[in-house]
This record gives sequence, structure tokens and C-alpha cells, in this order.
Amino acid sequence: MSPKANKRAYVETYGCQMNISDGELMEGILEDRGYQIVASPEEADVVLVNTCAIREHAEQRVLGRVAQLNGLKQERPDMVLGVTGCMAQRMGESLLERAPYVDLVMGPDGYRDLPQTLARIESAASGEAPGEAPTKNATVERPRKKGRGPQLAVLQLDMDENYQGLEQRRTEGPTAWVPIQRGCDHRCTYCIVPYVRGGEKNRSAVEIVDEVRRLADGGVSEVTLLGQTVNSWVWEDVSFAQLLRRVARVDGIRRVRYTSPHPNDVTPELVAAMAEEPEICRQLHLPAQAGNNRTLKRMLRRYTVESLLEKIEMVREAMPDIALSTDIIVAFPGETDEEFRDTLELMRTVRFDDAFTYKYSPREGTPATRLPPEDFIDPDVAQARLEELIEVSRGIQAEINASEVGRVEEALIEGEGRDPGQIRGRTERNKVVVFDGLPHRVGEYTHVVLEHTTGATFSGSEVAAPVTAGV
Ligand code: 5AD
Ligand code: SF4
Repeated sequence: MSPKANKRAYVETYGCQMNISDGELMEGILEDRGYQIVASPEEADVVLVNTCAIREHAEQRVLGRVAQLNGLKQERPDMVLGVTGCMAQRMGESLLERAPYVDLVMGPDGYRDLPQTLARIESAASGEAPGEAPTKNATVERPRKKGRGPQLAVLQLDMDENYQGLEQRRTEGPTAWVPIQRGCDHRCTYCIVPYVRGGEKNRSAVEIVDEVRRLADGGVSEVTLLGQTVNSWVWEDVSFAQLLRRVARVDGIRRVRYTSPHPNDVTPELVAAMAEEPEICRQLHLPAQAGNNRTLKRMLRRYTVESLLEKIEMVREAMPDIALSTDIIVAFPGETDEEFRDTLELMRTVRFDDAFTYKYSPREGTPATRLPPEDFIDPDVAQARLEELIEVSRGIQAEINASEVGRVEEALIEGEGRDPGQIRGRTERNKVVVFDGLPHRVGEYTHVVLEHTTGATFSGSEVAAPVTAGV
């Protein structure tokens, strides 16, 4: 099937980097079938809202947005409105019931057949014979009243779907995200991901390296490998550490990052690869989630505070300068005030450069929701813990960054700064620095002296590259 000429599609993505990458994948699949990708829903025949389910707040926002888009659909009844991604998978047909104006819900394993599914919706709506049948995914149809076509639900998880052979549509620029793994084999008791994205599925080493090569040929110099537990990736006899080395050695690639690793798969082999390959950035995002052993156990994180600290010590011994960041959840059901204080203690012990902090959000179907009702933390207490944690982590971040003022760092120019005449760069250690310059220089590497910090980011000035001893 090729869509009728000049069909236009708009994809609006919420959530994590993996989901953003999925949004680009959907755009790539649609573009390949002749769709024009447009920048606003007003211009589009097909509007897809690509959703996140990690916390309730994320879902509430999306439901509001979908209702708002229905306003557009009222004016243009031919517009197809779809909801894709993790929330679509989680809510399934109940979403179609709740939002009867939605034409399609599609989970993260259904995108390969997106064009065929859309064709089916269009032909049903116009009363034509159905178009080409979806090739793989089981589709559930819900009939609708008022002469409209049925609503479609594509919700089957597929253990074989790693989107091998399909290209993402990427926005131009010097950096690119490369998904190497989908799904997750862990079962952290708070987390919805394994239920909406299924088990771990890895892409082949050859395909990943080929993609990085093509990206580099197209001018990309920094890649970030993506996966839910990215460092558990393995393909035949190639380990994640070996994959990193192969990617680092692709011509034209100057920076390699990866996110998010699981602490248990931070191995000496991985640390050695990071320390030895100059292209692998001195930066590690290591989700700790909590700093208390009883909480970690009830979260089913499968490590202890002690073993986590040992990993961090191993990393810092090999790379004393490495920048570390983390994710922390406060107010997990049953977390006592003392246990929360252990998390603060972990923050003070490790001194992360950055921390992403969250209040526990119950996700239906996950094991933590079945804990005794009295374990659930009062929202005011949860809020107070979050605020205290943020204060501690921001304080540490500000101290670390203040101590880095005066350093000369190489920065990749990524875009414009907030003020006119300024550009924004990122250092190898993942710190953002703004300095004077013009936007035509995006993609260049330059050296910058860090002159001032707001706490989280820096401002600076360009300087000549430092002369390194022995070079
Ligand atoms: N509630 C709050 N935060 C969560 N995260 C995952 N699930 C939940 C939840 N139910 C956080 C974890 C994870 C990050 C991406 O989101 O910290 O690392
Ligand atoms: Fe969720 Fe845990 Fe898997 Fe991360 S490792 S995606 S937190 S289940």
C-alpha cells in the first residue's frame, strides 16, 4: 500500500529518551510509506500522541492533551487521532472507552505495521474495502456508533520485535540517540516498564555499528546508546563493553554515551572500556533509587547500598574525574523516615553531579501496589521528603560545579543559548555551558573556560585548546 499522495502526519512525544526515539521511529516508518511529517497537529491528517506511563502525573497530562486534540478533530472529522506508547499499552481498550474520539491505541511493539493499520482505519471510515491487512499484530476492533469506522487496538507484546531493519527519522544535528535494546527483564516492584514494553530484546551488534557508521557519515559525531538496562545488552559473543569499543572506533565518532545502565551490570570489563577508549565520555548515569537496604530489597533492585558503593568506587578508581548522576524515588510504600535519611546519606556519600528525583507513584498491576494500604506514605510527607532530597542534591551539585569553575573543557556546540548571540555547548562530562557565539557553529567542538555557575549549568568563554603534556 502507498498512502494517497500528500498525507501528512504529526507525532507528539512525551516521556523518556526511549520514547522520543520511538517517536522518531514512527516518523521514519510513516515517511518511508510516503507520509509527509509536519510540525503541528493543525496541518496533519494523522495525529499520534506517543505517551509515557512511568508516573500517574505523566498520564494525566496526556489525557488532557488528547481531549484538547479532539477539539481539532471536531473541526476536521477526517483527522485520525491515535495514542501510542506505554500509556496506550497500559490502558488498552479502556482508553478507547474513556476517549471515544480516539481512533487507535497502539503499544510499543505495534509500530512496524503502523501504515497498514492507518490504512485500515481510513478505508473503514470511508466505507471502502479494507486496505492491506496488518502483517503481524493482532488488531482488536471496537465498533462505533454514528456511522464512524471502528476504533482499533494494537496491543500485543512481541518478544521478537526489536525493529530490526527500520530507520528512525532524525532531526539534523551533531548528536543522535541509538536504541540498542527494548524492554526489561527486571521486575523492580514500582515499575510499569516490563509490563508495557515486555522483556529485554536486543538489536544485533552489526546493525547497531552499521547505524552508527551511517550516522557518522551524515555528520553525527556523538551517539548515545539507549536501553532500559542498556549495559545488560549482549549479542552472541559480543558484550556491551565490546560493543562500546566498536562504536567508539567508528570513524567520525568523537563521543559515546549510554543510558540507563543497571548497577549490577557495571563490570570491570565495562569500566576498562570506558577508561581506555577516549571517545567514551567520562559520565555515568547510575540509577540508585534508594539508599537503604530494606527499601532496595522491597524495590527488588537486587543490590545493596554496600555493593552499589563498591561499584562507584571501582568506577572512580579507574576514572577519578567521572561525572555521576542518578535517579531516586522517595516515599516508596513502607519507607520510614529513618530509611529516607539513609537515602540522603547516600547522596552525601557519593556526591552525585546530578540527580533526577521522584515521588513514588503507584502504577496499577505492579507488585508494590499490593503492599498493605497502611504502608502508603501520606502525600504531604512524600512531598516534604522530595523537597528535602532536592535541596540536598542541588546543594551538592552547586558545590561540585563551583569547584569546577576555572577548568577548561572541550564542548560540543549543540544549539543556541537563551540569550541572543549565545550558543550552548555540552562538555564530555555532560555539563551544559553557554558562551558567546553564532548558531551556524552548531556541531563544532571548541574549548571553553568555565567562568560562572548557576548551580546546575555554566557560562564561560572560548579559549585556545590547552596544550597537553606529552602530546
Ligand atoms: N514512581 C516514581 N518514579 C518511578 N520511576 C519508575 N517508576 C516509578 C514510579 N512508579 C523512576 C525511576 C526510574 C525513572 C526513569 O523513573 O527512578 O529510574
Ligand atoms: Fe523499571 Fe527496574 Fe526495568 Fe528500570 S530496571 S525499567 S526501573 S523494572
